[in-house]
Amino acid sequence: MKVTSAKFLTSALRPGQYPKDGRPEFAFAGRSNVGKSTLLNNLLNKKGMAKTSSTPGKTQTINFFDINGRIYFVDLPGYGYAKVPKSVKANWGRVMTAYLSERDPLRLVVQLLDARHKPTDNDLDMLELLDHAEVPTLIAATKIDKVKRSQRNRNLATIRQTLELDADALVLPVSGVTGEGVRQLWAVIDDLLD
Ligand code: GTP
Ligand code: MG
Repeated sequence: MKVTSAKFLTSALRPGQYPKDGRPEFAFAGRSNVGKSTLLNNLLNKKGMAKTSSTPGKTQTINFFDINGRIYFVDLPGYGYAKVPKSVKANWGRVMTAYLSERDPLRLVVQLLDARHKPTDNDLDMLELLDHAEVPTLIAATKIDKVKRSQRNRNLATIRQTLELDADALVLPVSGVTGEGVRQLWAVIDDLLD
């Protein structure tokens, strides 16, 4: 899909605040600071559309972006940042569970993992949440630009092993900075729209 218009639509915490027109939706999940908003901006070819920050915990609400008046991209609140207060963490669980469990138009969650590190316990919890909610999930290993070529296969293998993935499961290397993997990600999205 060629992006001709992309605009921020709304921030939501409760289901009553989500868009109601039933357009197909694609969401981005992952640890705080992993690069969800940056990847989203790269997919839309629009810097600054989703707010990015070097301070983790920037995105705390569910943010909907209207793409071509046809689909929504959804920037989900990050998790796993040690310094957020307990109340924020409890709220995150409620907000995410409500979204994942009852969002009919949701076609895919792109689960971002940091290509440099072994997935954390929080990452595994998040994947379990997705599994329970029976949401189709694509694993993307981001910040791949920070991994030396010679380390790549090893890091991707560590992710596969930690997640106990089947041999045919896809782990897509991506970078919101260089744009690596962005074309492939669009191909997956386009496939789901056919
Ligand atoms: P929260 O909104 O806090 O959950 O974070 P986020 O996942 O949206 O992360 P964000 O996109 O704001 O990026 C966090 C930091 O990582 C920023 O300083 C980005 O510039 C940097 N960053 C994000 N993606 C990449 C990437 O692919 N490569 C590199 N080198 N840096 C990245
Ligand atoms: Mg963000």
